[in-house]
Amino acid sequence: MAVKGIKIYGSSVLREKAQPIENIDQKVWDLARDMKETMRLAGGVGLAGNQVGVLWRIITFTNPEEKKDQVLINPHIVYLSEEKEKEEEGCLSFPDIYDRVERAKEVIVEGWNLDGKEITIEGKGLLARILQHEIDHLDGILFVDRLSPARRLLLHNKLKKISITEE
Ligand code: NI
Repeated sequence: MAVKGIKIYGSSVLREKAQPIENIDQKVWDLARDMKETMRLAGGVGLAGNQVGVLWRIITFTNPEEKKDQVLINPHIVYLSEEKEKEEEGCLSFPDIYDRVERAKEVIVEGWNLDGKEITIEGKGLLARILQHEIDHLDGILFVDRLSPARRLLLHNKLKKISITEE
């Protein structure tokens, strides 16, 4: 197994759009295994390809209902409830930064598992939040983008501090 380095805010790969995975092969299985391991060691509940520098549409997450780590390939949201919820959120790419983010309370997400089988995940509460957060990553969207301009302004100095500058 290989633990991957996690890309920190300021990395351009976090702002890019990940591409669909067409074939599920050994490379994808290895990546999924490494991402789960990386997520676990970092103490996170979700990780997206971009965060380990891979622009493939793949996420790993801890399903809080089943208490197990799952992988979802090419995930897409097919339903977002109108009812929203505002709860604290963090991200492995933003060390020590947390804020309350408004998200849909329930989602339905479709994607593939590691056997290439189409799966549907219905999530509410924390699971819904994790899925929305990770799928955002695949589109280059970060949780701080979902904050109000006033909240972002308050975080400005903290963000500047953690932000890495690429050569
Ligand atoms: Ni994140």
